[in-house]
Amino acid sequence: MALRNIVTLPDPVLKRKAHAVTKFDKDLQTLLNDMVETMREAPGVGLAAPQIGLLERIVVIEYFEKPEDEEKEDAPKKVWAVINPEIVKASEEMSIGVEGCLSIPGLVGEVERHAEVHVKAMNRHGKPMKIKAKGWLARIFQHEIDHLNGVLFTERATRVWQPKQEVDAEQEV
Ligand code: NI
Repeated sequence: MALRNIVTLPDPVLKRKAHAVTKFDKDLQTLLNDMVETMREAPGVGLAAPQIGLLERIVVIEYFEKPEDEEKEDAPKKVWAVINPEIVKASEEMSIGVEGCLSIPGLVGEVERHAEVHVKAMNRHGKPMKIKAKGWLARIFQHEIDHLNGVLFTERATRVWQPKQEVDAEQEV
């Protein structure tokens, strides 16, 4: 495995739309493993391929599967490797949270997101999968899928600021 370089603003790759993945080969497996390693090293809870300069519709996430697990000290986090993800259902209920982005160091912003989303995608072997995400996990999915469309949280934020303290790793996506 190898760490990949995380690109930051103003790199124009972050504003472009990524292409669908069609090949589920060995190179993809290597890339996914590298993305997980890069996300952990950053550290962050999500990473989209455009953030390492690749315009492919690939996202990795490592977070608690259920919102109630966020409160438990020893709850394990789950890793998702998600290919060609699409939000197929989104709750009317919205929630506001403070996000950061590994590609926009030193800034956070208040962003309104759907409280729950259903995501249709493929797993690392090209098999269809469906994910129901609530709470912060739903936020991570929305933030990462935005990256695949060249959309950054700063474009959605109601306000953006430079935090005085270091940003919490769980905010970095
Ligand atoms: Ni981000």
